[in-house]
Amino acid sequence: MRGGEIICLGIESTAHTFGVGIVDSSGAILANELDTYRPLSGGIHPREAAQHHATVAHTVLERALRHAGIGFENVDVVAFSYGPGLGPCLRTGATLGRALALKLVRPLVAVNHGVAHIEVGKLLTGFRDPVALYVAGGNTLVTTLHEGRYRVLGETLDIAAGNCLDAFGIKAGIGPMPEPENRARSGKRLYSMPINVKGMDVSFSGILTAAEKLVEGGVPVEDVALSVTEAVYAMLTEVLERAVALTMKREVLLVGGLARSRRLQEMVEEMVKIHGAEFKPIPDQYLGDNGAMIAWTGLKMYQHGQLTTIEQSIVKPKLRIDETEVLWH
Ligand SMILES: Nc1ncnc2c1ncn2[C@@H]1O[C@H](COP(=O)(O)OP(=O)(O)OP(=O)(O)O)[C@@H](O)[C@H]1O
Ligand SMILES: [Mg+2]
Repeated sequence: MRGGEIICLGIESTAHTFGVGIVDSSGAILANELDTYRPLSGGIHPREAAQHHATVAHTVLERALRHAGIGFENVDVVAFSYGPGLGPCLRTGATLGRALALKLVRPLVAVNHGVAHIEVGKLLTGFRDPVALYVAGGNTLVTTLHEGRYRVLGETLDIAAGNCLDAFGIKAGIGPMPEPENRARSGKRLYSMPINVKGMDVSFSGILTAAEKLVEGGVPVEDVALSVTEAVYAMLTEVLERAVALTMKREVLLVGGLARSRRLQEMVEEMVKIHGAEFKPIPDQYLGDNGAMIAWTGLKMYQHGQLTTIEQSIVKPKLRIDETEVLWH
């Protein structure tokens, strides 16, 4: 505790990022420190990423405490991300969470990573009941709260949108996002892409294949980047629009690492205006994976008695967003 506020420390380690965030019950984010694993080539290697997290964990933790200006004795609750994500990465964060909870004799909370992306968005925008598009490297879904859970209205049927753009960039030799978007700015010609939207579900694998074919066929990478990013963002905006029209909710959130895309933000803003709803972008540092979102959601769960025992704290790599009860709405 400090100044009468409960303090929660949150650990994020689902994929590339190892993060430690510290928040208090007034909603103040006291620290949000992180260190990101960067593969030498290609995509993420789960065991290497987990090794990275184990190596940087103590320094990131110390930095967070220092930044928050608190000691271990001020931490009231320990939260960790328990899924979805890569097993080895999740286990590293969970191990630290358990060790801290046991050592400090504090309650432990297991946080759903997807729910946390949205909850920190609500904290930062002041939104109460938004429709959310969660777009990242591992997840792509449209969701909103209904009867105590984030219901999946639509999702990708194959790869995530971020994964599609990253894989295209890596294949084309320019690197992952945001490189494809940077190159798209000097693109001049739009090529037709296999747009695949069914209801509120999307599929991106056809676009990735089409993009690879264009690059192999000698089309300038800027033009392919423009065609791919425009197609992916248009699909995402379309399913989000359907969700807004269906739910008639007035607040729209864009969360997850790919939500940093300025072009996607622009398209969503335009669409939302047409529906008389409101869109508020979230600062970049809280869009990608981070510890603050785990700490904030962990604090809410703690306040509603959603604790976990050490025995129950086994990570869940395939956890879905609708498996967590949202009691604080
Ligand atoms: N500057 C940027 N602009 C747009 N997109 C970006 C940018 N930087 C990264 N991204 C995208 O964000 C993704 C990372 O998202 P995030 O940090 O939420 O991690 P994740 O492991 O993919 O998360 P999740 O498990 O939630 O799917 C990358 O794969 C990339 O596609
Ligand atoms: Mg994420």
